[in-house]
Amino acid sequence: NKLEMELEAIEKGGYEHFMLKEIYEQPRSIADCMRGRLDAKNGRLVLGGLRDYMNKFQNADRIIITACGTSWHAGLVAEYLFEEFARIPVEVEYASEFRYRNPVVNEKDFVIAISQSGETADTLAAIELAKSKGATIFGVCNVVGSSIARATHAGSYTHAGPEIGVASTKAFTAQISVLTMMALMLGYQRGTLTESKYVQLLNELEKIPSKVEETLQMNPHIEEISAEYKDARNFLYLGRGYNFPVALEGALKLKEISYIHAEGYPAAEMKHGPIALIDEEMPVVFIATKDNSYEKVVSNIQEVKARKGKIIAVVTEGDTTVKSMADHVLEIPDTAEAFVPLLSVIPLQILSYHIAVMRGCNVDQPRNLAKSVTVE
Ligand code: G6P
Repeated sequence: NKLEMELEAIEKGGYEHFMLKEIYEQPRSIADCMRGRLDAKNGRLVLGGLRDYMNKFQNADRIIITACGTSWHAGLVAEYLFEEFARIPVEVEYASEFRYRNPVVNEKDFVIAISQSGETADTLAAIELAKSKGATIFGVCNVVGSSIARATHAGSYTHAGPEIGVASTKAFTAQISVLTMMALMLGYQRGTLTESKYVQLLNELEKIPSKVEETLQMNPHIEEISAEYKDARNFLYLGRGYNFPVALEGALKLKEISYIHAEGYPAAEMKHGPIALIDEEMPVVFIATKDNSYEKVVSNIQEVKARKGKIIAVVTEGDTTVKSMADHVLEIPDTAEAFVPLLSVIPLQILSYHIAVMRGCNVDQPRNLAKSVTVE
């Protein structure tokens, strides 16, 4: 009815869809997530929920991360973070697979369950299983008081605020923010991160919200690109290192809301299959920021170009090499390599949003999907 529609319009705060509103909220939601936890000026970082379990965390033999969907992608980013900064082996598991095999878990394992809703049935079951084997379970949830938040021994909320759009955006970047803070704390405590590196990273992390803000200014440019590719039947997303999970997430966003078939792949794996798909009809989104694997990604871009694929590349501001090769470039601000996912995912969220809108899809409530999946 009319009243409901008016209420919804108010909730959308002037945006056409919740998804767009939530994409735009990210400078705020990431800042909210770090507020009271990160104090770069004084070299301090504290996650209250972790305090009582810091010992277990620090001395864990292994970290097991379990989640579904977008939250699982945040877990993959965390694998790189924990291994780089804290040098603890990490396994990232789909909750649904973890719970149905007979996983080797014990008291020395530190299990992190990631969930926006805190209600995902498979994730909840994975937690119960790991708990029964004596592991410590730490939750990274958005919804306060949710089932997963209650089932875990401890946790840190993401504080992203309510996420209404079915396709997760601001919850994802808030999850990565929490996991980044956890990894930095852990690395510092374990001595695998030097004091100076730690302080430098804290200062860089504090700048992320304003860099996200800057990244959002690409919106009109991305809208133009979207118009060109809205009728594509397939999309390929490629990235390496920290940007590999971002490639998966970019592809998932597009699938979820535009119903275009999209695959995310580690760029180096392209030669083992996806390269067969490339022709002039195939848009390929590269996340090619200036990092350790940059040169390698550049050669992957050349391989796609040689096969006439259309190239959309997310690059670091000022990049000229990729610019000369790609059909379109989307420039994001420079930051520490480990923090790039917080920026590089933004243009991909926006790209999927515009393509879905142009295809007339129900962006906030895509067919067949649910915001929280409480069935197994
Ligand atoms: C559903 C949602 C996804 C979400 C996944 C995990 O499939 O549509 O957006 O990533 O569940 O949800 P959770 O609430 O556990 O993060």
